[in-house]
Formats: sequence, C-alpha cells, structure tokens
Amino acid sequence: MIEVKDLSKTYKVGTDIVKAVDNVSLKVEKGEFLSIVGHSGSGKTTFLSLIGGLTKPDSGTVSIEGTDIWSISDNKLSELRNLKINFIYQFSSLIPTLDVIENVLLPTAFSRDKDKKYCDYAMELIETVGIQDKIKSYPSQLSGGQQRRAAIARAFINRPSIILADEPTGDLDEETEIEIMNLFKEMNKNNGITFLIVTHSSELAKHTNKQYRMLNGKLNEA
Ligand SMILES: Nc1ncnc2c1ncn2[C@@H]1O[C@H](COP(=O)(O)OP(=O)(O)O)[C@@H](O)[C@H]1O
Ligand SMILES: [Mg+2]
Repeated sequence: MIEVKDLSKTYKVGTDIVKAVDNVSLKVEKGEFLSIVGHSGSGKTTFLSLIGGLTKPDSGTVSIEGTDIWSISDNKLSELRNLKINFIYQFSSLIPTLDVIENVLLPTAFSRDKDKKYCDYAMELIETVGIQDKIKSYPSQLSGGQQRRAAIARAFINRPSIILADEPTGDLDEETEIEIMNLFKEMNKNNGITFLIVTHSSELAKHTNKQYRMLNGKLNEA
C-alpha cells in the first residue's frame, strides 16, 4: 500500500540546517492501523506531508499502491491525492457558514456524478461519528469534539484508501481522544482503510496495531 525508501528532507533556515526527516524507510500494508509517536519537532508532520504528496523529498522514494508519487506529473499526483489519500489535521476546520451535512458533502462539490448516493453516504458517516442529531447545526453550535467528528466524517466522504492523521485529537480531552481513536478503529475494521496516525501520546498509540517512534527525523519501531 505505502512503501517509503531512504526518505530525507532537510530545511535550511538561515545558516541552520535541520534534517527534518532523515533516511526513513517504512512499509505499510493495506488495512494497517499504525501510529507514530514523537516529540514536537521530531519530523512527524514533515514525514506525513512527504508521504501524502504535499512536500517534495530531497531524496528517497514514496510509492502508493506501486506508483512512485514523486516521479509522476503534478496532474497525476493531484489525481492520486484526490482519489486515495486524505489528511485529518488537529485543526481541520469546518466552513462556518455551512451546516454539518453541507460541510461533510463539501469535498464532493466538484464531482462529476453528483447524486443522491453522496447524500446517503454523508448521512451514514454522520451517524457513524455519532452526531446525527446535529446534521443541520452550524460549527459554532457544536462542541470541539463534535466539530472534530464532523471533520472526520468529511475526510471519509470520498472513500480514501489511506488516512494520514496528524495529531487529530491534539486539543481534545482524554475521553474524547479515545472515542475518536475507536472511531478510526471502526473505520479501519469495517472499510479496510489504512491509517497512519501521528500522536503525541504513547498511551493513545497503544490503541493502534503497530507503533513507531520518531526522534530527530529518524523512525524506529516502538
Ligand atoms: N517549512 C519549514 N521550514 C523550515 N523548517 C521547518 C519547516 N517545517 C518544519 N521545519 C523544521 O523541521 C523539524 C521537524 O518539524 P515537523 O515535521 O513539523 O515536526 P513535528 O511534526 O514532529 O513537530 C523542526 O525542527 C522544524 O522546525
Ligand atoms: Mg507536527
């Protein structure tokens, strides 16, 4: 599903050189549910954006289902991103002027076959994330946890095969964090979606099937 080989990314800030990702290799099988734990500044976000096709590596390769994503055209890369990969961030913000169902449907707005099937799936996802009583509510009328659930439902609407989640529960209380993690687990089990979850918490990481640790740009099995 994902194969990363000898991946490196260095940033130059003034005269400083930061090896954000340092010669990392990783194989992720289809349907895996894994986490990466590391201190702030250890390179987690950079690593996810290299895998997700947002940041170009200095060296090394990233293959998604056999396609070397950094050797294809920009158009092909954005197509692959749209079809297969989705990101969930700590601040995946909803559009304040749209209600929950409109927010969840937003990624399908440019789709050619706009039909009822999306609405049905959106309803199903909203139910899965447990905010079915908030379909017509606006983001300002939701709690932080409910907003996160809506953003998660939105991340699934295009049926991605890979979810890259960067501290998706970062600002939530412990109980809600675990609920969100269980939600991911359910999506992983029922839909076979591959999950790569970055979290600051090794406690939370225990909920995943495989754990890695990132330190100074290096990735190791935990
Ligand atoms: N766009 C950038 N320009 C310069 N330095 C960056 C940039 N992005 C990240 N870095 C540096 O790379 C290192 C890794 O950052 P990051 O990937 O954001 O780590 P994490 O997500 O684990 O906190 C840090 O030292 C950070 O300051
Ligand atoms: Mg980060």
